[in-house]
This record gives sequence, C-alpha cells and structure tokens, in this order.
Amino acid sequence: MSSDFTVYLAPKGFTDELVYELGDATEVVDRLVFAPGPPRPVAWAQNIWLNPQRIRVESITDAANKLKALQRNWALWSVRHHRRARLIEAQLPSVKPKPMAIGTPPPRAPLGSWTLLERDLLVASPACSSPFAHGEVQFLENKTDPPNRAYLKLWELFTLLEAAPKPESFCLDLGGSPGGWTWVLARLGCRVLTVDKAPLDPRIEALPGVEYRMLSAFALDPREVGPVDWLFCDVVCYPDRLWRLVDRWRTFGKARNFVCTIKFQGPTDHETAAKFWAFPGSRLVHLHNNKHELTWVLLDGEEFPTFAPEDGETPRKLGEFGMPGVEE
Ligand SMILES: C[S@@+](CC[C@H](N)C(=O)[O-])C[C@H]1O[C@@H](n2cnc3c(N)ncnc32)[C@H](O)[C@@H]1O
Repeated sequence: MSSDFTVYLAPKGFTDELVYELGDATEVVDRLVFAPGPPRPVAWAQNIWLNPQRIRVESITDAANKLKALQRNWALWSVRHHRRARLIEAQLPSVKPKPMAIGTPPPRAPLGSWTLLERDLLVASPACSSPFAHGEVQFLENKTDPPNRAYLKLWELFTLLEAAPKPESFCLDLGGSPGGWTWVLARLGCRVLTVDKAPLDPRIEALPGVEYRMLSAFALDPREVGPVDWLFCDVVCYPDRLWRLVDRWRTFGKARNFVCTIKFQGPTDHETAAKFWAFPGSRLVHLHNNKHELTWVLLDGEEFPTFAPEDGETPRKLGEFGMPGVEE
C-alpha cells in the first residue's frame, strides 16, 4: 500500500533549502520534512522515506513488534521522546553502520527509517532512497595518500551510482588542486588532465597518467582538448558561471559524462540549481560529503533510477561501468 505523503531528511544545515525546493511541506520536525504525495527526486534530501506509515502504538514492546512485523532492519531518526525511542530501538535488531573500505559496493539489505513522533505514534518507512542509514556514507579514510578529504565526495558519488570511470578513460579535472579527485581518478587507472590556477600537489602530479596545466578552467578551449570521457569540475565559482562552462563543453566539446560541484557563495542560488536539474537525463544530489554545494551528474546514455516505492525496493543505479576494487 503506498502512502499519501513522503518524509524527506534534510542534510545538516540545509532544511530551509529542502523546504524551499519542495514548496509544499506540511510539517517540519527537526530535519524531517513532511510533504504530500509520492516521493519526488529532490536535490536537498539526504534520505527520502519512500513509503512512510503512521502507526499507533500501545507500548514500547508493541512499537518494536509492529516495526519488526514490517521488516528486519531499522534506523532510528530520533526527534522527540528520545528515551522512549531508544528503548524501542533496543528491542530491534542492532544496525550499526561500519565505515566502508573504498571500492566496496553499497549495502544490499533493505533498511527502513522510523521516528517516534508522539509518545504513541510512530512514523516508519520500510523503504528509503539511500541504502545507508540516514544517507550517511562513512568510509574508512585514507589519511596518507590523498592531499585532502575532497576525494570522499567523488568516492561517495561513485559508490551511490555504482559507476566510475573505466581504466584508461580520459578525464578532465577542472579546479583539481590540490589533487584529491585526481588521486581517485589516477587510482582507477584513468588518464587525467588536471587544470587549476593553483598548483597540484607534487605527489599527485607524479602519479602515472596525470598531466597538470596551471590555467584557468574557463580559459581551456574544448576544441583543443578533444574528446573527453568524463569531465569533472570542482572549481570555486558562481553557479551561473559553471552553467556557462558546462554549456560551452556541451556545445563545442566532446565530453560524454559530467560531474560538477555547484558551489553556493552566500544565499543558495535556487534558480540556477533548477536549470541544472532540468537538464534532460541529469541528476542533482547533495552528497553526505557535500557542504553548501550540490553535485550535478550527467551520464552518457544512462538513465537514473526512478523511485520504486510500490515494490518496496531501494532504487539502484546499475551502471555499465565496472568499479575496480581499490585497496586501502
Ligand atoms: C574545492 S577546491 C578543489 C579541490 C579538488 N577537487 C581536490 O579534490 O583536491 C577548488 C579549486 O578551484 C580552483 N579554482 C578557482 N577558480 C579557478 C579557475 N578559474 N580555474 C581553475 N581553477 C580554479 C581553486 O584554485 C581550488 O583549487
């Protein structure tokens, strides 16, 4: 049975962005935003409760039993009645997310989300958009090789897409200094042209397959570069400038796949974000590792999954691209 409302979990600090994007929120409790109708693919949600139900409960045990009757694995997002909620949680199978090694596929087991909205009222959804509890992807971090933590954004995206550039792909990494993304791409065996006005970390520049040009990303001529398998852009610039850059590469270049960070300086530029979102076949997401920014993805000939709340399955993107295991 599908629900007549959906619950969206906003990324920390971005509840207003989610409320704005939805436009018709009926209730906001902490970071949970309730809105009417079936799930919509919004950018400013860290997790979407695809088929939430309001469940009256008589006791702690009754609550736990009702959740267990729906399915096995549950993640609590506690907003009220915290102690009582924890006592219910204690009667459920333990779900302790472990940090994942890079290169590991996302968990497959269905994971629901629930909250105790009132003393005797649960809101629980057996199916959620993210395979990770509350959309929080935790990696075992490599603190020695990459020059910064920016690589986590890219790895989170590849994990969620279950897609990554194939070895030997030609990748452009615009705004790639000091080299976190370039490090990921080089480790995948790609050929990388990194362009930034700032220097690349010498250890990254020395990696096989990496070429670096000290140049403004906006000065690079797509016609001179030729065909590009993946265009990555993490340049700090206003969203409308990024839009023009992407447009130029779409018009003159031969880039097949795009992964671009839309960075907001000051107030969120919803208008330009919506322009990116409206690009046919593309997807706009707020990754767990994103700050005040969104990641725009356009994959060549690849359709992104639509939500499938009816059959209770977590939607998945099964790309044609292999993701070689990377040892940490
Ligand atoms: C967030 S950092 C990128 C981090 C990088 N993705 C990594 O993994 O290490 C943003 C970069 O944008 C660069 N940048 C700003 N304006 C630029 C421009 N016009 N052309 C190229 N790079 C630019 C900055 O020098 C900075 O290195």
